[in-house]
Amino acid sequence: MMRFENVKFKYPTNSDFELIIDNFEPKGCTAILGENASGKTTLGKLAAGILRPSSGAVYYHGEDIAGWKLGKIGRHVGYLFQEPSRQIFAPKPLEEIALPLELRGMPKEEARELALALLQEFELENIVNSTTFTLSRGEKQRLAIAAAMVMKPRFFVLDEPTTGLDKPRRQILAKTLKKMQADGMEILIISHDRDFVEIMGADIRRMEGGRLLDEKA
Ligand SMILES: Nc1ncnc2c1ncn2[C@@H]1O[C@H](COP(=O)(O)OP(=O)(O)O)[C@@H](O)[C@H]1O
Ligand SMILES: [Mg+2]
Repeated sequence: MMRFENVKFKYPTNSDFELIIDNFEPKGCTAILGENASGKTTLGKLAAGILRPSSGAVYYHGEDIAGWKLGKIGRHVGYLFQEPSRQIFAPKPLEEIALPLELRGMPKEEARELALALLQEFELENIVNSTTFTLSRGEKQRLAIAAAMVMKPRFFVLDEPTTGLDKPRRQILAKTLKKMQADGMEILIISHDRDFVEIMGADIRRMEGGRLLDEKA
């Protein structure tokens, strides 16, 4: 589905870091482990079309996504930010999930029912009536994941998804992701959390100094 080919990337304001990935084709569930500042988030943003390669290309079903509008990429590729408050926009948790569905034409009642079911799956039903801005880090994280999932992306990039989640919540997340994987979704997990990616049965790759190492981590 997704393929990196001769990708190079530099931040215009940072000459110290360069990401170089000659060939990378994540399949099924792939995890990227690596030290801080090794380039994991940069790789995830390139996969989600948030950053564009300086040279080379990221292909999705054979098409170079550099020519796609973000809206089109967003319909295929889901992205969970490392910092969940960056993507929560609605004042109420239920709306965070239901509004995008309504924007896509789902009747209001149906959207709210689906949103409620998902909030329950992530054990967030007790905060349905809270304000999103006052949620804890872990609650925000779970809400952001639920909101990204409800769009049923075909490919899902999650940047440090287990930050702020306790063990039972990590297990719920793993179970939900596995269920979506069984439905055909491909997953790219960026993480420090080796236990979690092992539970996911991910194909583990290691990033170091902007390079994806050949050998398995
Ligand atoms: N917006 C930015 N502008 C300039 N440099 C950046 C930017 N974002 C990240 N970097 C730098 O790029 C390198 C890789 O960062 P990142 O991909 O966030 O690594 P990781 O997710 O593995 O911690 C780091 O040296 C970081 O400081
Ligand atoms: Mg990062």
